[in-house]
Amino acid sequence: MIGFRMPTRILVEPGAVTRLPEVARSCAMQSCLLVVDPGLRENTEWLDIAQRALESTGIRTHVFDQLEPNPRTSTVSQAADVLRQAELDGVISLGGGSAIDAGKAAAMLAENELRIEQYEGKNRYAAPPRPFVAIPTTCGTGSEVTWVSVLSHEPTNSKMSIKGDTMFPNQALVDADLLQTLPPHLVAWTGMDAMTHAIEAITGAAANEVSDSLALSAASLLFRYLERAAGDIEGDSLARECVMRASTLAGMAFGNADVAGVHCLSESIGGLYDTPHGVTNAILLMPVLRFHRPFIVDRLALLDDACCPQEPETPAEAKAAHFLDELESLCRRLEIPSFSTLGVRPEDHGRLAEWAVRNGSNRSNPQPMPPSAYQRILDGLAGVA
Ligand SMILES: [Fe+2]
Repeated sequence: MIGFRMPTRILVEPGAVTRLPEVARSCAMQSCLLVVDPGLRENTEWLDIAQRALESTGIRTHVFDQLEPNPRTSTVSQAADVLRQAELDGVISLGGGSAIDAGKAAAMLAENELRIEQYEGKNRYAAPPRPFVAIPTTCGTGSEVTWVSVLSHEPTNSKMSIKGDTMFPNQALVDADLLQTLPPHLVAWTGMDAMTHAIEAITGAAANEVSDSLALSAASLLFRYLERAAGDIEGDSLARECVMRASTLAGMAFGNADVAGVHCLSESIGGLYDTPHGVTNAILLMPVLRFHRPFIVDRLALLDDACCPQEPETPAEAKAAHFLDELESLCRRLEIPSFSTLGVRPEDHGRLAEWAVRNGSNRSNPQPMPPSAYQRILDGLAGVA
């Protein structure tokens, strides 16, 4: 069976952000909440450019920048309060995954009265969200084309997912020019998040032909251009455009085929330790893939064909091994840090493994993953006997 959904209208083009006023109007916004990363506001011109463009065409704006790198449920509740009190028609998120996930959930919460925890899960809300436009400024999240918002729930130190058929952004403006101000390590980390989305979509239990095609395109682009982009994001416009496109393609792939064990574990760790999502995935990707390897040889061979092809008659086992070696080499060249930098304490491995199993994406792993499987991965990374 193939099931595929993509209701978001997407414009992928350098300079697309200049189309923001017409896009906002097409979503019936006369006023909007601009949700932005605080770093983006401090260090770049992008918010000023977007705000000026909107205000010059008569669209009232209100900026919300009280965001954490892993957005909290309480922060989303505050943003929803602002939306209601200032009577704003919709939300425009400008930033990485935190700004987009927070804006997406705030647009829903503004129309629904219960506490945010009540909406965890799929389609738990009644009223459709306010109009929502997503403008990514990293090359990793993919949230601009998905129905999910992943938030940090402080009372339980865990991640919470809110999903809904009407939570897809109405429109996504995917403008590679916005990557120009992204520091090199964030290009690498968020790009490896996109790589993880593509690889988990291909190797997971919910993969299908449509998601495969999107994910293979994304992985192939990232293999060719991510290192170049991280090396010179400002000067290499081709690499910049390719990694931005790859991020959105990978978002469409995992939005339909799900993610799996890397994200289950990374969201557990991120919930407890507040580690950045992209680099946590980048660190966990190789060990989880090596753990799954006996179950995904054909899928890894497909990735090898798309990303680093060898002679066609090469056996699948050899292609799989080659792909994993090439991916590990790419992680090294991108200077992805070691597991120890995450600061995960061995005494937490047990509960992190339990939480990973409770993640909604655990069922999408290519093999059943009980807590002992995650614990083994964590213990192996930490060198625990
Ligand atoms: Fe991710």
